[in-house]
Amino acid sequence: MDEYRKFAGVYDILLYPFLHSVRVKTTHIASQLQPKSIIDICCGTGKQLKYLKSHGFENLEGIDLSVSMLNQTQKGENPVNCREGDATAMDIPDNSYDMGIISYALHEKPKETAQQIVREATRIIRPSGYLLVVDYAPDNAVNSLAKGMVHAVERIAGKDHYHYFKKYNQYKGMDGLLPAEKLDQLHGFNLGTSQLRVYKM
Ligand SMILES: C[S@@+](CC[C@H](N)C(=O)[O-])C[C@H]1O[C@@H](n2cnc3c(N)ncnc32)[C@H](O)[C@@H]1O
Repeated sequence: MDEYRKFAGVYDILLYPFLHSVRVKTTHIASQLQPKSIIDICCGTGKQLKYLKSHGFENLEGIDLSVSMLNQTQKGENPVNCREGDATAMDIPDNSYDMGIISYALHEKPKETAQQIVREATRIIRPSGYLLVVDYAPDNAVNSLAKGMVHAVERIAGKDHYHYFKKYNQYKGMDGLLPAEKLDQLHGFNLGTSQLRVYKM
């Protein structure tokens, strides 16, 4: 079942106020790191890749499970190259990309699934490449207005999404998912409702 079928057409418009600054920040970081190839894992509508493409990046690819989200990748001025695939078991050779991005995909998954997506990402990024992960900051790191807004969005996204989002909060978000001792963190930013981390492989 395509969980995003109902939202795919309005996803980018609805979330623009929350996500625009994150897309810009991600593009800025990529401009500093200068990867020659980037894969967006769980790319959704391909919006982050479109920002990167409009800033001159080439060799951009995305992978996602949702056909309705993937259909959106072809719309607008900067269509991007994305394909259907499961991020927990990607049909991609080891060490294929200079950089991987995972944005807002981990909070809505069971912890083991989220960690498997990260493991797969680290497999397909080459040594000395980068993994950029951006996702919600846990409740204890945001003010009550931000917390209310994010909880409202996740409730609308559906029962399962909200269930796993609450679990994500219980284990303190990205810090609970991505133990510092296993990944070499290069940068960390708090971006209002979100946290962004860059890891070096
Ligand atoms: C909240 S959306 C985020 C999309 C995009 N990364 C963004 O920043 O807007 C989560 C995306 O993860 C995708 N997804 C969830 N599980 C996946 C999996 N196992 N493999 C590939 N994509 C998956 C969903 O289809 C959806 O497009």
